[in-house]
Amino acid sequence: MTLTERSRPSVDLDVRPLSGTIGAEIAGVDLSVELDDDTVAAIRRVWLERRVVFFRSQHLTTEQHERFASRFGELTPGHPVLGGVEGHPSVFEIDYSASREVYAHYGDVATRSAGLDWHTDVTFVERPPSASILNAVVIPPSGGDTMWSDQVAALAALSPSLQGYLATLTAVHDGRAAFGAQLARRDGGGEWEGEVLSSLEPVRHPVVRVHPETGERALFVNPGFTSHVEGLHPDESAMLLSFLYTHSVRPEFVVRHHWTPGDIAFWDNRVTQHSVVGDYGDARRVIQRVSLRGERPH
Ligand code: SIN
Repeated sequence: MTLTERSRPSVDLDVRPLSGTIGAEIAGVDLSVELDDDTVAAIRRVWLERRVVFFRSQHLTTEQHERFASRFGELTPGHPVLGGVEGHPSVFEIDYSASREVYAHYGDVATRSAGLDWHTDVTFVERPPSASILNAVVIPPSGGDTMWSDQVAALAALSPSLQGYLATLTAVHDGRAAFGAQLARRDGGGEWEGEVLSSLEPVRHPVVRVHPETGERALFVNPGFTSHVEGLHPDESAMLLSFLYTHSVRPEFVVRHHWTPGDIAFWDNRVTQHSVVGDYGDARRVIQRVSLRGERPH
């Protein structure tokens, strides 16, 4: 569905699309103040259509970041295992250089303090977040961009036969390799959906997900957390996932954001993957993330 097919927003935003199908910069909106309903609705429409939207140099305080996010949904805990920052349980601080141990399962990537490879946030729970909003706090002098990939476009580019087959499949998502050790060490367990999380049981999600608001279909597997496809031989599952991972981040599906301090990125976690570019050496990079409660994928 395109913006023109949806009802026209009553607020005209200054929107600059950044690639073929994904990403848009929205200018002329001050996110530090309470947004009116029409502006929220207009941002939401652009966000649904472009998957990820960027607002330059907003320099939001933690409270303003939370307030902006809460205009679009219910805030989740910062992270189901790693929690939030002191006094702000919904704000997850991402500083790969300060958290080498946390990201150690990513091997070389973490030891270079680089960041995470392609993934969709928290798909190892029954109801992964619908959206996340990043606030750029400390940005390296060069490097450390973030890329997002459009999983609706990726699915649509496959042959109808393969799309049909993928729609019959279910994949298992498993957060234990990534966060099992941290959860075991966390006193009292983690928290998600108002419940204490004492273990990370693998969960099942469809390989093709239907967007609950737009009805669009998207690929919904990611190398961060998908362990295998059910019902296939392990070799078949590995081959299929390897193909999908390569396909799903082809350049034509990707937008890349070059951060400046204070930037905000707001993405639809139901139809995207994202990845940090690990080219900033030992420079410091601190980003805060707030996520919105999501639905069970179907
Ligand atoms: C994330 O993976 O949610 C954060 C991406 C980033 O640090 O740019």
